[in-house]
Amino acid sequence: MTHAGAGGGIIPAGMEPTAYPVNDFGPAMRGMVIGAVGILHVFLAQFAIGGGFLMTYFQWLAGRGVPDARRFLDSFFKYLVLVSFVTGALTGVAMWLTTIQVGPHTIGLMVDEFHWIWAIEWCCFAVEIVAGYMFLRYGERLPDGVRLRLLATYALASFGSLFWINGILSWQLTPGAWLASGDVWAGFFNPSFWPSLLYRVAVSSTLGALAAIAVINTMDLDRAARHALLARAARLLVPMAAMPALGLWYVAVIPADSRAWLTGGSVAMSMFLALAAGASLLIGAYALVGIWWRRLYVSGATAALLLALAFGATAAGEFVRAGARKPFTIRQVLYSNAIAPAEVARLRAEGSVARDPYPLRDAARYPTAQLALGARVVRLQCAACHTMKGANGLVHLGGAWSLEQLRIAIARLQETKGFMPPFAGPATEVEAVAQLIRWEAAGAPAAWPVSDDPVALAQIGRWLDEAGTAPAPERPRPPGEATGGGRGGAR
Ligand code: HEC
Repeated sequence: MTHAGAGGGIIPAGMEPTAYPVNDFGPAMRGMVIGAVGILHVFLAQFAIGGGFLMTYFQWLAGRGVPDARRFLDSFFKYLVLVSFVTGALTGVAMWLTTIQVGPHTIGLMVDEFHWIWAIEWCCFAVEIVAGYMFLRYGERLPDGVRLRLLATYALASFGSLFWINGILSWQLTPGAWLASGDVWAGFFNPSFWPSLLYRVAVSSTLGALAAIAVINTMDLDRAARHALLARAARLLVPMAAMPALGLWYVAVIPADSRAWLTGGSVAMSMFLALAAGASLLIGAYALVGIWWRRLYVSGATAALLLALAFGATAAGEFVRAGARKPFTIRQVLYSNAIAPAEVARLRAEGSVARDPYPLRDAARYPTAQLALGARVVRLQCAACHTMKGANGLVHLGGAWSLEQLRIAIARLQETKGFMPPFAGPATEVEAVAQLIRWEAAGAPAAWPVSDDPVALAQIGRWLDEAGTAPAPERPRPPGEATGGGRGGAR
């Protein structure tokens, strides 16, 4: 296994970083592609886990003679769990397919560091498949005791896969003591391991309960019997009460700069956090008022609405989790654009695309070599989070700025916005990117002058030096404190 070391150099001295093929997703930036698949996957997988808890609980009730519990289990609820389980598995494969295209360096390092842990996770998954399928195929013919054991195996195995994957995913944001020691278990049981695991368990349980409530309402039962079942299913909403505390615990252990994005540093992220919290609160309030206090009849439509809210909360929560990692994919080890912090200084001297073997797909479009260079630099350093004209488009962001503003903003990238990594190339690459943005903004004309004024390049070099090669300081600066951003344009 490679050891990251405090400096974050993951590539052993003397070895070339692998140049993986790059992919282009048109108007969607790479981060968005993986985000969309990820949100769907997390939601389905968490429902499959919560569904497993709920079915185990109801089977236990059935064994103790609670009427209708077994009928509920043999209703279409199990197919719902099956569908989420199968689609969860399919979107899991989709995650691998996208992640090896979007972030091969990141996933490569994760597999390398957590090889055996990932193997354990896959074993849990295999057990989950066998137990789930056996229940579905033979469940109706089996006695209660065997059914309970099968469902408990399914639930435990699905919780197991969450347990193991959670250590790997939470490590990306809070690698903790692993950074210094390289110790696998220090990385696995990292500072955000427990709050994030418990939070996801609470979410899973809530999703299982909400879906069960919807299903119970479709069953042909008299009012009293329905209430009895609903009250049991609603017990799985109890862990929701811990979610605010778990959320605060999570926010308390993440790095100070990430926390600052969430609490006002980034408008988008603060907004999504508020959305996630708001949707969860609504679900909680409804559960409290509707199900327990007033013993309301919960219509299928209401339960579906609550599930939609839960999906919204999951989506916003995952957005926040991914956003909080910026500018890293693995904190202090790899930036979002797959450049290691320790590499930046070398790339500043050598050029970031000097060893990039892949030609541009649309090379013929660019009238000058400088613009083509700009396109390769953008592909390597910016495309993880930007497109040219689509999502988070560079042309929309900086196309109307003066040339000088653009140069400053790019050279001092990590000061322009603290969630961007430092620019990892020489002044000529900064200029190539600035020219490319202006050329695209001008409508990509057939002729474009080459800009190689040594005085301008020397000035860009000074800005690069002033910004340094380190990421933005831990805390984002207050808006008043000018830090380049280019808007001032002082020379
Ligand atoms: C880790 C993700 C990430 C990377 C990598 C990244 N950016 Fe950004 N950048 C962002 C985000 C997010 C914004 C904020 C967009 C907004 O304000 O709507 C942004 C904003 C900008 C802006 C506008 C700044 C302002 O003050 O409004 C410019 C210009 C820019 N980026 C250029 C670049 C260039 C050039 C590169 C590559 C050398 C790059 N970025 C790499 C995430 C990134």
